[in-house]
Amino acid sequence: MLTIAVSKGRIFEEAMPLLAAAGISPLEDPEKSRKLVLPTSRDDVQLVIIRATDVPTFVEYGAADLGIAGKDVLVEHGADGLYEPMDLGIAACRLMTAAKVGAPPVSGRIRVATKYVKTAQSYFAGLGVQAEIIKLYGSMELAPLVGLADYIVDLVDTGNTLKANGLEPKALIMQITSRLVVNKAAMKIKHQAIKNLLAQLETAINSR
Ligand code: ATP
Ligand code: PRP
Repeated sequence: MLTIAVSKGRIFEEAMPLLAAAGISPLEDPEKSRKLVLPTSRDDVQLVIIRATDVPTFVEYGAADLGIAGKDVLVEHGADGLYEPMDLGIAACRLMTAAKVGAPPVSGRIRVATKYVKTAQSYFAGLGVQAEIIKLYGSMELAPLVGLADYIVDLVDTGNTLKANGLEPKALIMQITSRLVVNKAAMKIKHQAIKNLLAQLETAINSR
């Protein structure tokens, strides 16, 4: 049995056509079902439905053999305990800094609100900028508006969320897409099954 960890929503929707090309379709719709373990059209594959940020943890500890996670989540988690053999090219966006439109540059220590604490810390440290990082779990865009932070570090796709909140993108930190990740022990023990799945996904990606 191969267990694949995937989050609901965007990643699930964009990953499903790729998994379907490998013959893997869930037998229930995760958006409607309350089940967290979903059998699929393949007897040897099941899906576990978890929060996007939990995918690397499940895969690292072997609770799932494989997972699909955004590069943002993988960088923040630290990817040492995982193999990352494939860029699926889905859920593309950018991790950026942003600030209030027209805000003057801040001199000295800046305050940055984000859920990407480690990534933001290392980004600003790399620039030699003193930054106090304020951890938030969502709605980062609000922080500069209410004086909680000078900057945010968040994902940007169309830019509509920034715009709707009077913010503007500043610097690109990294381009983001979702990756397939594999548990290191599973890669050895279930080598043939995983190799076959990787080949099927690669064919699906190339014929997209
Ligand atoms: P959690 O439920 O753990 O808080 P989340 O709400 O951030 O996670 P999603 O919004 O589904 O979950 O995002 C999952 C992944 O999709 C992100 O880690 C990122 O890689 C990608 N993503 C997020 N927002 C966008 C976007 N606007 N456009 C494209 N890809 C995105
Ligand atoms: C993501 C991200 C931004 C928004 C950016 O939020 O956290 O807020 O998308 O996309 P845009 O540039 O196209 O506006 P999402 O829609 O996933 O909501 P959530 O993270 O709050 O669930």
